[in-house]
Amino acid sequence: MSAQPDSYAVMGHPIAHSKSPRIHSLFAAQTGQNLEYRAILVEPGGFAAAARAFRQAGGRGLNVTVPFKQDAWVFADILSARAERAGAVNTLIFEAGGVRGDNTDGPGLVRDLTVNHQYPLAKRRILLLGAGGAARGVLQPLLLERPAQLVIANRTANKARDLVLRFSDLGPVSGCGLAELAGRQFDLIINATAAGLQDAVPPLPEGVLAAGGWCYDLMYGSEPTAFVRWGQAHGAARSVDGLGMLVEQAAESFRLWRGVWPETGPVIAALRNG
Ligand code: ATR
Repeated sequence: MSAQPDSYAVMGHPIAHSKSPRIHSLFAAQTGQNLEYRAILVEPGGFAAAARAFRQAGGRGLNVTVPFKQDAWVFADILSARAERAGAVNTLIFEAGGVRGDNTDGPGLVRDLTVNHQYPLAKRRILLLGAGGAARGVLQPLLLERPAQLVIANRTANKARDLVLRFSDLGPVSGCGLAELAGRQFDLIINATAAGLQDAVPPLPEGVLAAGGWCYDLMYGSEPTAFVRWGQAHGAARSVDGLGMLVEQAAESFRLWRGVWPETGPVIAALRNG
């Protein structure tokens, strides 16, 4: 008889359309790891109780998505430096000594850009749109790549400036409102706003994308997202969505749990094909 599989899950609200169970099943099949991975719908306010129950039932770890990443940050006993900084946790590792929390979103983004797309970030002028949880989750890993500058621009300018205070020791980061971008140019624009949920793009001044510049949307979909279309319409050399980041953040979680790196290329291709 084969051993019981180790149990993992993703918790969120909503969760029905999560691709994580499929991604982790593909990783497990590829690496021969004996595990099961489910999607669990958790009601707002119920995260800690649900996570505790999952652990007590023998669960080995969790992925955490909207709107519980801050709850998971509070829930963890020990935080990685990048999760501590982000104020958000997307990966919990249940160990005998306690619950470890990490955030693999930023490393997933950096790996997708630098490895999958072969786009090095060193010396680039990067514009990060948005100052919410998604932006906070990617700032430290982006700054560790040593861009020439990283400007956070947000509809509510003060939120961008507040965020800068938390990260300014890590590199050349500044914050402003969207209107203040007039006359400035960037090599890479990353969309970390929620505007795409309304199929919209934050208002950006003409010429903000440098010639040969790239656009990257943290969101993804079966059709090109609003921001990917914006990049295409504004002459981006490449305008890509966040599907690769999704798979890369999952791979980093998988490695934290299992100690093995899955190959992400075939999984990205499988998801892209529907
Ligand atoms: P998330 O965890 O996805 O980052 P969030 O913390 O609610 O979600 O943050 C959403 C971000 O998208 C914010 O930066 C928000 O701007 P404000 O801080 O001004 O609210 C931004 N955002 C949402 N809808 C937007 C829109 N239509 N245009 C521009 N920015 C938008």
